[in-house]
Amino acid sequence: MSIENDLALISDFDKNYCLQVFAPLPVAFVKGKGSYLYDTQGTKYLDMIGGIAVNALGHGNPKLVSAISKQAKDLIHCSNYYYIPQRSELAYRLCRASFADKAFFCNSGAEANEAAIKIARGYFYYKGEDKTEIITAEMSFHGRTYGSMTATGQEKFSKPFGPIVPGFKYVPYNDVDAIRLAITPKTAAIMLELIQGESGVRPADVEYVKAVRELCNEKGILLIFDEVQTGIGRTGKMFCYQNYGVTPDIMTLAKGLGGGVPIGAMLCTDEVATGFKVGDHGSTFGGNPLACAAGIAVLEYFGEANLLDNVNLVSAFLFEKLNKLKNKYGCVTSVRGLGLLIGIEFDETVIASGLREELLRNGFLVSAIGRSVIRIAPPLILTKSQASSFIRTLDSLLSTRMGGKSNPILNAFKNIGRKEAPVVKAPAEAKPEETAPALPAPAEDDLD
Ligand SMILES: Cc1ncc(COP(=O)(O)O)c(C=O)c1O
Repeated sequence: MSIENDLALISDFDKNYCLQVFAPLPVAFVKGKGSYLYDTQGTKYLDMIGGIAVNALGHGNPKLVSAISKQAKDLIHCSNYYYIPQRSELAYRLCRASFADKAFFCNSGAEANEAAIKIARGYFYYKGEDKTEIITAEMSFHGRTYGSMTATGQEKFSKPFGPIVPGFKYVPYNDVDAIRLAITPKTAAIMLELIQGESGVRPADVEYVKAVRELCNEKGILLIFDEVQTGIGRTGKMFCYQNYGVTPDIMTLAKGLGGGVPIGAMLCTDEVATGFKVGDHGSTFGGNPLACAAGIAVLEYFGEANLLDNVNLVSAFLFEKLNKLKNKYGCVTSVRGLGLLIGIEFDETVIASGLREELLRNGFLVSAIGRSVIRIAPPLILTKSQASSFIRTLDSLLSTRMGGKSNPILNAFKNIGRKEAPVVKAPAEAKPEETAPALPAPAEDDLD
């Protein structure tokens, strides 16, 4: 039996056999090439979300494909009972490229954050200091496991699943006085995203990050940067902290690191590394040859393809064009982010999930955050001309939307939050009188 090209069967099996924690859009992808994805019907989409900031090299990158194919032939897994050449090399490369002296590998962002939280507490434990509290920011997102979910400063993620892990405090983002007030003699670490990706692409202020670093130095507190989304070139530097000129003690990575192959990493200084002794932490799969070979290929490709230059070039182009759209349409209230992690915020007349669906019908993939933000995090290989096609389509959708109440796109936007399928504009290739397939009631957010 093959269900690969049968969307109805795929969605039927999904509904019947997969735990319903996602709310997928009515499309399934079966192939990817560069910055494009192809669905079950062979329709092409420009991937402006890159698997949620994961497919840094795009799809089917020959170097990555050949590295993992070769590694799969040689050895996929052998366990951390033994030395692993690829793990050693990836650790070396990441430490050489960053502030860090040591790396620990796992399989996801949440696990990387678990390691960060644990080692921060372990560090003080082994020093004989009773410091266990972790301060994080309101509206942050750090993952779905108990530690990372508790670190996440949004109650909606943990409310049904309490009791949560003790020892966490939440403070408003970009407010150094709030952190100062929250610090006690028991504070072990402050954990921050430099751009809050999941709550609307909200960057931290440079002065704030600098002041937090100084506060940590003054009080002997560890600073953790969660770079799961912002790391590996996403913001135009290899690591986002390099944009701020502020170095953490611990940094977590995942998403882009394996270019799509699951891998997470927790990096720290030699000083912090004393927080884990042999046997204190581990992972069966973490650091396996396959995932580390992917990580090495990704890092090598950055150098070979001048990827950071491309990120900065295409980012500047997108910001310029998006800001023009902001000036042209009153409904665009903010364009923010860094590099190729960009949030476009709309006023109450545009519902982000409606616009996301309209873009999908026009062959563009983005994510919607909350009611008002469209996030783009495309492959870092995106070209200016691909970015330009996205801008043209967004412009045309917004301008059609201004056309009046009877306009179908306006209706599609307004219908979001609806229970039944909206009346929608036909896809570019379809006849004008055709309507797109019925959509399920959308989730408010795209969930990571
Ligand atoms: C900043 C940040 N931290 C942690 C995570 C969790 O990563 P994962 O889904 O790989 O566990 C995410 C996922 O979106 C994230 O954006």
